[in-house]
Amino acid sequence: MTAAATPAGPRTVGEIMSRPPVTATADEPVSVAADRMREQSVGSVVVVDGDRAVGILTERDLVRLAAAGTEASTIADWMTPDPDSVAPDLEVTDAFASLAEHGYRHIPVVDDGRVVGVVSMRDLMRIAQIQPADKLANDVPRGLEGVIVAETTIGDVRGLEGFYHYRQYNAIELAETRSIEDVWYLLFEGDLPNRAQREQFDAEVRPLREIPAQVKTALPEIARAAPDALPLDLLRTTVSLLGASQGFQPSLDLSATELRVQGLQICAVVPSLLCALYRLQHDLPVIDPHPELGHAANYLYMMSGEVPTPEHARGVEQYMIATIDHGFNASTFTTRVITSTGADLAAAVVGGIGALSGPLHGGAPSRALDTIDAIGTIDKADAYLRDVVERGDRLMGFGHRVYKTDDPRNVMLRSVAERLQAPKVDVAKYVEQRAVEILAELKPDRKLYANVEFYAGVVMDACGVPRGMFTPTFASSRVIGWTVHILEQAADNRLIRPSAQYVGPPPPQPVPAPE
Ligand SMILES: CC(C)(COP(=O)(O)OP(=O)(O)OC[C@H]1O[C@@H](n2cnc3c(N)ncnc32)[C@H](O)[C@@H]1OP(=O)(O)O)[C@@H](O)C(=O)NCCC(=O)NCCS
Repeated sequence: MTAAATPAGPRTVGEIMSRPPVTATADEPVSVAADRMREQSVGSVVVVDGDRAVGILTERDLVRLAAAGTEASTIADWMTPDPDSVAPDLEVTDAFASLAEHGYRHIPVVDDGRVVGVVSMRDLMRIAQIQPADKLANDVPRGLEGVIVAETTIGDVRGLEGFYHYRQYNAIELAETRSIEDVWYLLFEGDLPNRAQREQFDAEVRPLREIPAQVKTALPEIARAAPDALPLDLLRTTVSLLGASQGFQPSLDLSATELRVQGLQICAVVPSLLCALYRLQHDLPVIDPHPELGHAANYLYMMSGEVPTPEHARGVEQYMIATIDHGFNASTFTTRVITSTGADLAAAVVGGIGALSGPLHGGAPSRALDTIDAIGTIDKADAYLRDVVERGDRLMGFGHRVYKTDDPRNVMLRSVAERLQAPKVDVAKYVEQRAVEILAELKPDRKLYANVEFYAGVVMDACGVPRGMFTPTFASSRVIGWTVHILEQAADNRLIRPSAQYVGPPPPQPVPAPE
């Protein structure tokens, strides 16, 4: 959160920059720069000619290069030439104010024409916000855009680079190569499991998929009480009941070990609850978890009653892995705010489900697929898309608070949809391409691309997930991210209690006598 003034804190760029800078020359191969970034754990390399900065190459450029599939290239081909720089004696707040508009992530620090360090916008921002709260009140962006509200070791999203990670690993690489149990373990324990750890983790979590008896008995009544409700809305009720019936205590009163066990249980049982609610709403018998199936395959099994094909199970699993966590999105922030009060873990997850259910957050995939269906054939795409944007509505599955380039989850899910030969993939690809072009034409100042929700529906539809279960599937994976954030918040807690700027009629007015 924005902090009060700390007069002793760093004031100049020179005090916070990384030095010496990691450098390379323009004629060196890009692979050399990539190796240096990895070895030194930095996000950029300053390209130098002698002492002079002639360019900067960042991880974002490497992502672009990888996406372009180009092989041997030199740094000169991919760097940003003649980068803006800052002087070491510049005040951090001034540097942040003058550079914030440009979307840079790394800026060379130059003293008398000589590169002496590199500073990240993130560090500038963090320090620049350490200033008196009354000055900040006018400056905090609407929707807290870009405001850093906590420190985390769970992961991060780099919106300009189109990159995000879980712990120390590229999240997309994890989705392409690992099981959801492995990634779940990574998030809970801090690193990927070896074989023995994986087996032990499986043995620990599989029994936790069973719905506790007190909750299971109540499910038919809950489903009957609101037969037309969305399964996600009923999940709020059942998670609340789960916490109360299992005696979840305030997180403030629990040890990290006790909270971890509750967290594992919530993550394991949420898919079972959702499938049970869905089936009861459709007058179908509840299906118990299959002890032999992995998390994703078991989810599809409990939903349909049939063991899914490995292709469908893997498609859903990749979607789930890619959506486990994603920075301080609205639902994750909600769970952390609730946990900061010391409330119990189920209360925090219920809040997260509520935040996720909104169409601006997790409620979009079925709407995105509705759009693809409403368009029907590609010849109708242009008129439909233009009409939506021109009348001031939003195209569902496009735009993102953080990504101002391709959403990497969307890129991965597009290829999953292609691999599965999803029935709607061809129309979807055309709609995506035209929507991005039309948004660029009609909203030229905004960088609007398809987000994770766009192909999520296409993939889930191809794997046999019904539309009403799209957002619940998102909840089934995001609950793992929420829980890890809850554990992190509880482990180092301070009540999250920000302020608002009052803009109503000036107080105090005399209180009129009642009429
Ligand atoms: C995700 C989202 C809520 C992010 O919103 P945000 O960062 O608060 O962005 P804003 O609402 O400030 O929008 C900025 C501008 O882009 C436009 N915009 C953003 N997303 C748009 C979309 N999907 N379709 C059309 N215009 C869009 C807004 O109209 C606004 O333009 P304006 O200033 O000319 O009115 C927003 O892009 C959206 O509503 N997308 C559709 C819903 C969706 O796909 N949600 C899933 C998110 S993973």
